[in-house]
Formats: sequence, C-alpha cells, structure tokens
Amino acid sequence: MIGHCLALLLAFVAATVADPQYIVGSKCPDKPADIVFVLDGSGSQGQANFGKELDFVSNFTKNFNIGPSTVQISVVQFATSVRNEFSLKDGHSSTTLINSISNIKWLNGETYTGDALNYVNRNSFQKVNGGRDHVAKVVIVLTDGGSNHPNETAIAAKRLHDNHINVVAIGIGSEVNKDELNTIASNSKHVFTVPNFDALHTIHNDITDTTCKLCDSTPMDLAFLLDGSGSEGNKDFGYQKNFAKLVVGELHIGDNATRVAMVTFSTGANKNFDFKDGRSPNTVNHNIDRVHYPNGESYTHLGLQYLHDHTFAQRESRYGTKHIAVVLTDGRSNEENLTKQQAARLKASGVLVIAVGIGAGVQMTELKNIASGDKYVVTVDEPKDLDKIHDKVVDLLCASHNVFRTTIMTTTSTTALPTTTTPEPRKVCGPRPADILFLLDSSDSEGADNFAKETGFVSNFANRFYIDPQHNQISALTFSNNIQNAFWFNTYKNRHDVTHAINNIKYVGAGTNTADAFKFARSQSFTKNHGSRANATKIAIVITDGRSKDEAATLREATSLKNSGVVVISIGVGFGQDDHELKSMASRSNYVFSVSNFDALKTIQRQVIETTCQDHGAHH
Ligand SMILES: *[C@@H]1O[C@H](CO)[C@@H](O)[C@H](O)[C@H]1NC(C)=O
Ligand SMILES: *[C@@H]1O[C@H](CO)[C@@H](O)[C@H](O)[C@H]1NC(C)=O
Ligand SMILES: *[C@@H]1O[C@H](CO)[C@@H](O)[C@H](O)[C@H]1NC(C)=O
Ligand SMILES: *[C@@H]1O[C@H](CO)[C@@H](O)[C@H](O)[C@H]1NC(C)=O
Ligand SMILES: *[C@@H]1O[C@H](CO)[C@@H](O)[C@H](O)[C@H]1NC(C)=O
Repeated sequence: MIGHCLALLLAFVAATVADPQYIVGSKCPDKPADIVFVLDGSGSQGQANFGKELDFVSNFTKNFNIGPSTVQISVVQFATSVRNEFSLKDGHSSTTLINSISNIKWLNGETYTGDALNYVNRNSFQKVNGGRDHVAKVVIVLTDGGSNHPNETAIAAKRLHDNHINVVAIGIGSEVNKDELNTIASNSKHVFTVPNFDALHTIHNDITDTTCKLCDSTPMDLAFLLDGSGSEGNKDFGYQKNFAKLVVGELHIGDNATRVAMVTFSTGANKNFDFKDGRSPNTVNHNIDRVHYPNGESYTHLGLQYLHDHTFAQRESRYGTKHIAVVLTDGRSNEENLTKQQAARLKASGVLVIAVGIGAGVQMTELKNIASGDKYVVTVDEPKDLDKIHDKVVDLLCASHNVFRTTIMTTTSTTALPTTTTPEPRKVCGPRPADILFLLDSSDSEGADNFAKETGFVSNFANRFYIDPQHNQISALTFSNNIQNAFWFNTYKNRHDVTHAINNIKYVGAGTNTADAFKFARSQSFTKNHGSRANATKIAIVITDGRSKDEAATLREATSLKNSGVVVISIGVGFGQDDHELKSMASRSNYVFSVSNFDALKTIQRQVIETTCQDHGAHH
C-alpha cells in the first residue's frame, strides 16, 4: 500500500514538475472550462490582502485563452453576504476580465463560506449566466479562515461535489482550518495552503496545472481491455490492473457519471465485469482486484470483438455519453490482420479507442491500427512504468468527445438498408409543417466519395417525408470556401424532384466556411421569397467533418440564425470535427450527433428524424 501511494505521489510530482506543457500557451488554455472563483472578503484580512487575492485571480486568467468557446471565468465574493461580481457570460475577453477584477470592492464582514457555495451551486453554472453543458466545471475557493458555520459549509460543498463540480480549496495564512479545506475540496489533491497572502504567487502554477487536468462532466462508458497473454507474466499483468485503478481513481464514477467495464484477452476473451457492475468506485476497485491472469496466446482481435459484440452492445442510450475503450497490449498479436479488422469494426460503431503499448517489443503499426488516431497511441518501455502514463491517458479521456448521443448499432453491417424496407413517408413532422434546410460541408477534407454518402443521407431523409407546400419543404446548400444554394424551399414541389436534386448536388472542395453558410441560411434560405413559410417550424441541419475556418464567426452566425427563429441541429462526422463547436452551434445540447465516419451516418437517421420532428416548443 505504501509502495502504491509512493508511486502515485511520484507520478504526480513527476507530472507536475516535468510536464511544463500546461503552463503557457499550449493545449490546456484552449480546453473549455467554466471556472468560478469564490473569494473570501471577510474582515480578518484587510483591504491590502484582498487586493492580493484579486491579483492572484488576474494572474491566473492570463494563463488561459478566455472566450465563449474556451475558458470562462466568474467571480463571487463572500463575507457576511454573498455578492456576484460578474458571471461566466460577462468576461469574454481577457482585457474586460482583468478590468472587472481590478474593480472588485472589498466586502468586509464575517465568513459565511457555506452561503457562497450554495449561491454558486444554484446560480453560477446556470445557462442564463453563461454556464455550458459538457465542459469542466470548476470552483476555486480562496479563504483565510474557518467559516462561521462549518456544518453548513460542508453540506454546501457536498452539493457541489454531487453536481460533478470540481472544487479546489486554497487556504491562506495560519488561521485556516485544514479539515474544513478538505471538506470543501472535491478531493485531497485539490487542497492548497500558503503561509500568507504574499506567498499566493507560489501556487500559481499548481493551480493552473490542477485546473488543466480536471475532466469535463461528460459521462463515459469506459472499457479496459487487458493483455493476458503469456508474454506478459503475472506480475506484469498486475501492473495493468494497477494502471486501470489509477485511471479510474481520477474519474467521477457513478450511475449517472462514468461507468467502467473490463475484458481480458489471451487465447480467448474473458469478461471481467460489465458496465452494470462498474458504477461505483469501490465496486470497480473490488472487481479489478478479482481479475485473474489467464495466461495464453495473444488473440487481441477476440478481445476487441468481445467489446464490440457484448460490452458496448449492451450500452443503454445515455444522452451525452462518450464511449471509450482503453486497449493495453504488448503490440504483438497473433493475428495482425484480424486485430486491425476488429479494431476498425469497434471504431465504426462509435467507440473511441486508445491503444497503450507496453514493452520494448511493441509494434507501432499494430498500435496505430488499433487506436482511433496516432494521438491516441501511448507507449511505455516497461510494464512497471504504466503508472507514469496514467495521467496522459486520463487527459486523453477527458479531452476527447467522440459520441454525444448513443448510436446504438442494431446491425454490424455497414451496407445500405434495402429500399424495400423503407417505411411509408410521414405527412407531418412535429406539431407544424417543417421547413428543413440542410447545410452540407463540401470541403476538401472529405472527398467526393464521402460527399456522396452525405447526400445519400439527405436523400434518404427526404424520402421519409411528404414534401409539398402544405406539408414539409426541404432546401439544401453546400459550403466550402463559397456558399452554393442547391435548391430553395420553393424550387421543387414534390419528393421525387427533391431527392433527384439532392443526388445531383455537386461536390466542390476547399475550405470550411461555416459562418457564411449560417449567414446565407438566415438571409437567403429562410426568406419568404425563397419559399420559407411563416407557419412552419424552421430547422437547419448542418453536417460537417471539420473545424470551421473561423470558430468565433461561426458561433456568432449560428447565434444569429437561432435568434431568427431557426432550430439548429448539428452532425459531426469523424474524429476531426470540433465537438465543442458542434455543441455551440446546436440549439440544444442533445441536438448534436456525432458519428465516426460517413458510412455510419445511416445509423443515426432515425434519431435525426425524431429530433427534427419533436416539438421544439417556444424555442427560437
Ligand atoms: C455540526 O456537526 C457535528 C458533527 O456532525 C455535530 O456534532 C454538531 O452538533 C453540529 N453543529 C451544529 C451547530 O449543528
Ligand atoms: C501576479 O503577477 C505579478 C507579475 O508577474 C507578480 O509580481 C505577482 O507576485 C503576482 N501576484 C500573485 C498574487 O500571484
Ligand atoms: C441519476 O439520474 C436519474 C434521472 O435523472 C435520477 O433519478 C437518479 O436519482 C440519479 N442517480 C444518482 C445516483 O444521482
Ligand atoms: C494481412 O494483410 C496483408 C495486406 O492486406 C496481406 O498481404 C497479408 O498476406 C495478410 N496476412 C495474413 C497472415 O493473412
Ligand atoms: C402554411 O402556409 C402555407 C402558405 O404559406 C399554406 O399553403 C399552408 O396550407 C399552411 N399550412 C398550415 C398547416 O396552416
């Protein structure tokens, strides 16, 4: 146990000291997070020291890329009362933010920390105040003393923890109550103390680093596939189990949070435990302890196949769940081609695969065949070093967003359904007639073949509806560098002509000007001249496989389109798309779909139709 803790500690220290990537400018500052600072403005500290708290916050924000799609900051001050200084939505540029921080006036009073935490829990992360779904939610509490009502503080803190909000507690000076800091923080690693206000700057990097490592609140279905082949040996197999425990230890495991499953491959595939048995940290650890080393051949493909056919086949439809497999292997399977095939099948079903290669003999080609992309390959030279890379794997888990809405595969075949099984087209789509515009990405990243799959999806979609001026109407445009209208709502008056036109849309190539596409939709497509009807529900379905060339402009135009009364549904294809952008474009967080490739588009057809035709209410 001591060895284990020491290893953990060393890994933690090694990661913090040797990994400067978080400190300035690289990937973390762009990782979206909603951060609320809770500042103690009680009388014990005095005006000058309060100013140092403000400096600390100011310095902190300089390390992040501030904006509506990256990091948002709010500040709440408490003493006898609680005051919201500014909300997440208020400071969308570094300069306004720093200005607002410097204008904060010291409250001066008692220390009602619990009231502040309750306030934050109820208000700060609400949508109206700028809170976003599926981003890391962080509360950083600075205090210089014990609170007036410790019990209430503890209850309030627990509410935050229960809502998957990460809480970091910083104690300043000798009056702080270390036990209370521990109850406030979401775990003991998130407690920091400094001897006085002047020493605050010494923990600047630690706080930045801690914040960067926090996971977003998107639940995961996370399956581990362990290598139980003879080349590993019982002791080495133990390191794999330990690695899985370290990773799990960093995640929020629970019924409505992340669930864990485990399978081991050797000569066959052994189910260790399913997602239904991996829903609390204690059960997961207990179940991992009970996994035994099978010792046998290296039939990696059987393990991957098991994950596809059983482990992930039983997934329930949980909104917004990521499906991820972490595959540990020495990278030398007996059946290289079958391994590749089964990995491809698993990935095509919407599971993101991370490959962890163990030992000097790993074959990179095989790891790359298994993983969802080169950046999802992680290697260690020796099994005993697995603990050193668990942070890296946790980062990949936390930063990846593969599937926001479960696409349950009812068939493993990717061939098109025969047209004879196409159900009768529906007269009505929702409570009112619908005007449905498709915005089709025609950028060079996808190629003509994939573009044909995209139009195939749209044409199948159109085939499911009565299309005429009394019922539903469809319009389509393509976007690359330029926007091209394919046909307006009033160009064709029946389904046959519409599907024919869809199949004839030409692939253009070059650029992803999503912003102009939205603008065009608002100013051209959804106008009376072009057939848009006042009595219809207006829906825009955007399908894209890449990041737009100007995210800020895209989100601005998406917002204008939504404000003009159009419901936006976004569909991302492949792992190249920017999930955050997809979510920000859509009218609701569950109006986002994501599939791993163009072939898989057909698997979401039914859900896209249901979403399109649901009652969007007073949404605008
Ligand atoms: C606070 O909680 C402790 C332990 O749970 C309890 O003994 C104590 O009476 C409580 N204090 C107040 C003021 O409620
Ligand atoms: C803030 O940054 C300035 C300039 O780097 C530094 O002098 C100061 O100590 C920092 N203050 C805190 C509280 O981190
Ligand atoms: C999980 O979510 C469901 C539905 O929102 C809720 O009824 C249930 O209490 C939640 N369970 C936990 C442990 O939070
Ligand atoms: C694996 O696939 C490659 C290329 O498709 C082929 O050349 C090779 O013969 C296959 N190996 C086996 C053992 O089937
Ligand atoms: C909606 O308006 C169009 C003309 O703009 C009309 O032809 C159609 O009958 C109307 N539909 C309903 C259900 O009111």
